[in-house]
Amino acid sequence: MSFDRSIKIAPSILSADFANFGQECRAIEAEGADWVHVDVMDGHFVPNLTFGPATCAAIRPHIKGVMDVHLMIAPVDPYIEAFAKAGADVLTAHVEATPHIHRTLQAIRAAGVRPGVALNPGTPADSVAELLDLVDLVCVMTVNPGFGGQKFIDMSAKIRRLRDMIGDREIHIEIDGGVDPKTAPLVAAAGADVLVAGSAVFRGGSVGNPAPYGDNIRAIRAAARAAQ
Ligand code: DX5
Ligand code: ZN
Repeated sequence: MSFDRSIKIAPSILSADFANFGQECRAIEAEGADWVHVDVMDGHFVPNLTFGPATCAAIRPHIKGVMDVHLMIAPVDPYIEAFAKAGADVLTAHVEATPHIHRTLQAIRAAGVRPGVALNPGTPADSVAELLDLVDLVCVMTVNPGFGGQKFIDMSAKIRRLRDMIGDREIHIEIDGGVDPKTAPLVAAAGADVLVAGSAVFRGGSVGNPAPYGDNIRAIRAAARAAQ
């Protein structure tokens, strides 16, 4: 995983066919996805349940590139080892999920995985000021986490502030929630480089007809690049 600030599209398999994750992962990569975003929800930190490390391990062989695992769970620490063993390249924990996020991020690094920290829309940029030396990615939520297909919340000012705080450090700014060709330019202009998109990538396509995934990915990427 080399570092650059070019636009990377990370489709969220939350919008994929849950009965065909392997095929869906292969299809989005064939259609131009840069990373595969995997949303882990526990029905406690967020009001929805998805899947855990066993599913991540099962889909890992179907992903050639980066498996970007977004943990919407509390607690986090007891599961880090399992997600590391499942083959996560990036493990992102929420700053709101624990009073000891610093320890959690250290533990992710110690497990040999790249640590990310995510911020809910109501959480200020400054909440990660003391964490920037520990992370490879900051994920700015542009919806309240829990569900795909929600309306984008404009966090441009927070993204700009984070971009300034990050300076020359090799830290990705990832945006998660409501990203589509209309909203992508806003976040790219503010300094984001990894764009998660669920419904806007998978709409119109299927495992039997994956070509629309490619059209959707290209539309988001083109809109973001033009604004970067
Ligand atoms: C929200 C998840 C997102 C979500 C994005 O809780 O973390 O990754 O799947 O889906 P869209 O792009 O549909 O908002
Ligand atoms: Zn996510």
